[in-house]
Amino acid sequence: MHIPSAIILGLLGQATSSYVWPSKYDHLEDLLAMHSGYLRFGFSDLVVPCGFGSGLPGVQNAAEWVRSVFHDIATFDASTGVGGLDASLQFELDRPENVGSAFNNTFAAMYDFITPQSSVSDLLALSLVAALAACDGPKVPLRAGRVDATEAGPAGVPKPEDDLESTRKAFLRAGFNDEDMITMVACGHSLGNVHSVNFPELVSGEATEENVAPFDSSPTNFDNTVVTEYLDDSTSNPLIVGANDTMKSDKRVFGADGNATMSALADPANFQAKCADIFERMLDTVPSTVTLSDPIEIVDVKPYIDPLHLQEDGSVLLQGRVRVRNNPEQKINGDDLEVSLSYRDLSGASISEPVVANRARARGGQSFGFWDNTFTWFEFSQSLNATASIRDFDIHLKTSSSGALLVLDNEGTGGYAVTSDLLYQQPESCLINNGAAMALSVTAALRKDLVDANSPPVLHLAHRVARPGVMLPRLQLETIAFELIPGVEKSGYQYFRANATVEASGWSTTFDIEAGAGTGGKVHRLELLKTNALSDTCGSIS
Ligand code: HEM
Ligand SMILES: *[C@@H]1O[C@H](CO)[C@@H](O)[C@H](O)[C@H]1NC(C)=O
Ligand SMILES: *[C@@H]1O[C@H](CO)[C@@H](O)[C@H](O)[C@H]1NC(C)=O
Ligand SMILES: *[C@@H]1O[C@H](CO)[C@@H](O)[C@H](O)[C@H]1NC(C)=O
Ligand SMILES: *[C@@H]1O[C@H](CO)[C@@H](O)[C@H](O)[C@H]1NC(C)=O
Ligand SMILES: *[C@@H]1O[C@H](CO)[C@@H](O)[C@H](O)[C@H]1NC(C)=O
Repeated sequence: MHIPSAIILGLLGQATSSYVWPSKYDHLEDLLAMHSGYLRFGFSDLVVPCGFGSGLPGVQNAAEWVRSVFHDIATFDASTGVGGLDASLQFELDRPENVGSAFNNTFAAMYDFITPQSSVSDLLALSLVAALAACDGPKVPLRAGRVDATEAGPAGVPKPEDDLESTRKAFLRAGFNDEDMITMVACGHSLGNVHSVNFPELVSGEATEENVAPFDSSPTNFDNTVVTEYLDDSTSNPLIVGANDTMKSDKRVFGADGNATMSALADPANFQAKCADIFERMLDTVPSTVTLSDPIEIVDVKPYIDPLHLQEDGSVLLQGRVRVRNNPEQKINGDDLEVSLSYRDLSGASISEPVVANRARARGGQSFGFWDNTFTWFEFSQSLNATASIRDFDIHLKTSSSGALLVLDNEGTGGYAVTSDLLYQQPESCLINNGAAMALSVTAALRKDLVDANSPPVLHLAHRVARPGVMLPRLQLETIAFELIPGVEKSGYQYFRANATVEASGWSTTFDIEAGAGTGGKVHRLELLKTNALSDTCGSIS
């Protein structure tokens, strides 16, 4: 059965912002979309639940992540466009304005997720969106494309002892007026605590990790009690009722316009809306040299293709998954769905036999995310004739109970394209521990007619270079030319190898394989391949 794609696209197109696969922000979307279940990406689950439970006494990850974003953007200079959300905070932790372990904790949580496609500053933005989602806060649009600073920027985060005038000036310099300032502080201080170890003068009792004082009676829920308790004088916010008048910054800030802004924020719906707006503006406070993407939306149907590789018998293995968001509005229910791929071979001919994707079994084949999203996973694995191979595919979703069929062609782009001219021979690649360093050996195969002696495929390896005094490593790209492995040829492909050394401290990283860049022809690129998926024995090419 074939349904014209125009009709089909109309069905799903209303709910999505016409996502075209692949996107360079797929990795960030994964981190945002799923925090538990089958294929959990492990980033957002650090803030689920919103409260304590990070394993460190007195630490509420969600609150720390929100505060970290503020301390990174607070030094922005709107008149020059310098600073903003650029992760320069990593280099600024010896300053009195950045006291406490919260910032290093925040950066440490990002260690595993930094890639050439997810900068630390994009991960910071993601962390705020995730923290709010976990704490029942508003949904804040996440744009991507931030570029990390490589050194400290100017100082200037407001401190509790600063007078109102200098605090105002600091916010103004960063592009925020009085109302913005009041809103931003009220929204931020909806979550979290003052820590006695950092501000002993603000928290009564002994200075211990556990001894913390919340800003309001619901520090693990993103709500406006911080506002209402201020207005009805029932607050125990240390920055309002603390023993030392000099340190009462929330009192000065909240009253800066005669309580006009705070009174408006006493309406819960208005509070959520104003907070969503001010947080979005904070995330979009970036250096003037940065161009942000459109907001990343959670994708309804997303394929994940493992790079093809040649098998011993000369066929190529097509393997991967389809993630389907359960969407009652569109009547998409993963428990009532049959998924398959119809594909075209390299000559463009449609193949009548579809590739069936079966419901994944591990963890019920489901992932769970924020905003009540659930996803169902379908897995496929099929050997294909390497010559005919695959050019692209459509995804068929068939509702079992009704028989209704939805055919997705990647938003009218002609299908989901598969890279089949360049192969990543993962079984013949390896990562061997040599003690101080690791030896990486990557094997690739390229279709013979694309082999150009002057322009071999290249490996782009993201080294994770540790930096003294800084929590996160710097990514340094090394480009290595592949060498032809002479005398080996299979199914019309020739084999190549590239060897590299990876620092033991940063061995878990990513690399890309690229072919065709110098040839004037089509460029093929396999991205974000993971060293941690490699075994320590290189299979032999047979
Ligand atoms: C005048 C401006 C501000 C001052 C003087 C200020 C001051 C403080 C202080 C003293 C703490 C306690 C830190 C600790 O003990 O570890 C704190 C915590 C916090 N601040 Fe602010 N803040 C300001 C604005 C903001 C803004 C604009 C946000 C976010 C939008 C924010 C978010 C937070 C959060 C979430 C915490 C709790 C952190 C935790 O529980 O670990 N603050 N702030
Ligand atoms: C603002 O509200 C606080 C808390 O109720 C109160 O102490 C203060 O007097 C109010 N300021 C004005 C100008 O009404
Ligand atoms: C109040 O805090 C300020 C700023 O930290 C400090 O200089 C002052 O000595 C404190 N006052 C008292 C009475 O502790
Ligand atoms: C693979 O496909 C090619 C091109 O369509 C065809 O010539 C060849 O016979 C096929 N090989 C096998 C083993 O089916
Ligand atoms: C690359 O590494 C592999 C695996 O360690 C090794 O067998 C091969 O000899 C190396 N090739 C070169 C050119 O160093
Ligand atoms: C943050 O972590 C780095 C790297 O481990 C360390 O050198 C630095 O002292 C830490 N800073 C703070 C304030 O904890």
